[in-house]
This record gives sequence, structure tokens and C-alpha cells, in this order.
Amino acid sequence: MEKNEFLAELGNLEEEALRAISSSGTLDELENARIKFLGSKGGLNEFSKKMGTLKKEDRPETGRVLNEARGKITSSFSERASLLKEEAEEKEQIDVTLPGRRRKMGSRHLIPKTSAEICSIFERMGFTITEGPEVETDYYNFEALNFPPDHPSRDMQQSLFVGDGLLLRTHTSCVQIRTMEKKKPPVWIVVPGKTYRRDDDLTHSPMFNQIEGLAVDKNITMADLKGVLKSFVEEFFSPRTRIRLRPSFFPFTEPSAEVDIGCVICGGKGCRICKGTGWLEVLGCGMVNPVLYDFVGYDPEEVSGFAFGIGVDRMAMLKYNLDNISRFYSGDARFLRQFP
Ligand code: DAH
Repeated sequence: MEKNEFLAELGNLEEEALRAISSSGTLDELENARIKFLGSKGGLNEFSKKMGTLKKEDRPETGRVLNEARGKITSSFSERASLLKEEAEEKEQIDVTLPGRRRKMGSRHLIPKTSAEICSIFERMGFTITEGPEVETDYYNFEALNFPPDHPSRDMQQSLFVGDGLLLRTHTSCVQIRTMEKKKPPVWIVVPGKTYRRDDDLTHSPMFNQIEGLAVDKNITMADLKGVLKSFVEEFFSPRTRIRLRPSFFPFTEPSAEVDIGCVICGGKGCRICKGTGWLEVLGCGMVNPVLYDFVGYDPEEVSGFAFGIGVDRMAMLKYNLDNISRFYSGDARFLRQFP
């Protein structure tokens, strides 16, 4: 055989072998290619045999080219083999019968959710949402709300002082004064916000949430107050929820009342939650004490008003039938997840 013929055929075989290796998509295909080109009866071995038919002086060069071709084909084969093996292993690892990964969905916390729900009921009755600072002066928290200095009514409030004559507001009633100072009547506001007292047990937390209501306008009477609160509880709890007003005392309202609703747990029959009475005390209210108008420059001959204060935590506990206020604030995701 001629040297040039030999080299040309070898070149073709090498090309064919490399193409077959790189195009094999499975280990089986690759094994067939190996047998065809590198096997004992494979293409390259045929060329080793053909070496004998070459002229003696041509053998060193053709031998070198043959070895190079074998080296290229062998290393291309082992590269392809390890790639296909890796792919096969990866495929094995995907178990399509496994359940998918669930994404955890967050949800709104019960307190802001309840607060927003209460506010929106009052917004639909014509009230506007307003806010005020949580760190207050004695003036807005007490004095202008008709708590005289050293008056025993301040004891009800268990204040937390922060120095410099400032305290964490004990109620949202302060915003009554702040609003009336700034705005001429009519005023129809609800004030959601955090409030603070030195108090901590099953139903009290040092930080809690209130919604203050204030309506000052011409010819406002106690009937308006009761009508508004009745509409509110009917919408928040259920249309069958009854209410009753009991005389009470707050320095900033006169007359003042405590509002009870028919127990939402037992429907009024008497249970552990309502202590057998069939009634639950849910909020304080009253007609704005005219002495407040002196502080803000309103004319008590011109306007009258009512106010109320709702405990949001208590409302949420009643609505969702919870017995421990600390659940709201312990940050336990298992608890929070129950209320998506
Ligand atoms: N500020 C009172 C408290 O925190 C609640 C309250 C009672 C607010 C009567 C009012 C009201 O506006 O009229 O205990």
C-alpha cells in the first residue's frame, strides 16, 4: 500500500470516529462507536495490520500518525463517556413522584386586620381615619381631657413615663384634643393606634391597641351615639348582636357609659366568657364633656358630640374566640398561620 493512500484513509477514519463519538447521545451508542473504531476488530487495528504492506522507510512516519490518531480518539471517547455518565446520574436523582416544594404564604396579623376592619365600618358611616403620636405630653393625655393634676381618676391609667414630662399614651383619647385644636367642627374621626399601660395578665398586655371615635357636630345626641355603636356591633359581630349602655364615668365624657353586647360566645345564655351574665363589656363612651371645648376653643352652645374608645385586642379575642392576649404578641407562627 502507498503511504499517501494510507494517510488519507486514516484521516477519514479519524474524522468519522470523532464524529461518531461526539454525536452519541447514550452510553450504549458510545460503546458501539468504541467497538467500531477502537475494538480489537475495530478500524484502527485494521490500520495497524496494513502497516505491514507499507514500504519500510515509510513506517516510522505512518506509525507516528497512527498513534496520534489513536490517542485523539481514545481521549475524545473517555471525555464523552464521563459526560454521559454524569448526565445519566443526574437524571436518576430527579424523583418526579416527590411532592413539590410549597412556598409559605404570609398573612396579615390579626390585630392590624381587626383594626382595619373596625375602621372601615366607621369610614362607611362617614368617619375619617386620623392618627397621633404614641409618646405624649401630660397635657394631651390627661389635662386637656379633664383629668385634673393629682386627681384619682389618673390611677385608672397605670401610666408608663419616659422622662421629661412625657409618657407613652395610655389611650388614644389624646387625639380628640389634637384634632379639635387643629380643625373647626364638624369633626368625625376614628383613631387607631397603640397604647401602653403598666398591666400584664391573660387579658391585658403592656402594649395594646385602641380605636378612638369622636363626632362633634350640630345637634348630636346620645341617640346618635347609640345608633352608631349599634350599627357597628351588628356589622362587626352579627346583625343579631344586641347592645346595652350602662352608666359609667370618664372625665372627658358627661354622661359616660359602658357598652355591653349580648355574649357572642353563648348568644346570651350565659357561659364562662361572660361569667354567666349573657353580656360582655366591650367599650367605653359618652357625650363629649363640654369642658373639653374650652381647651380647644369650640362653642358648647353651637356644637355637641360623642366619643367612644374600643379595645381592638378585646374585639379580636371575642371575634376569634381566644382566651390569652399574649398569643397576639408572642410571634408564634403556628398561631398566626391559623388565620390566613
Ligand atoms: N380612653 C378610655 C380608656 O382608655 C376609653 C374611652 C372611654 C374612650 C370613653 C372614650 C370614651 O372616647 O368616651 O379607658
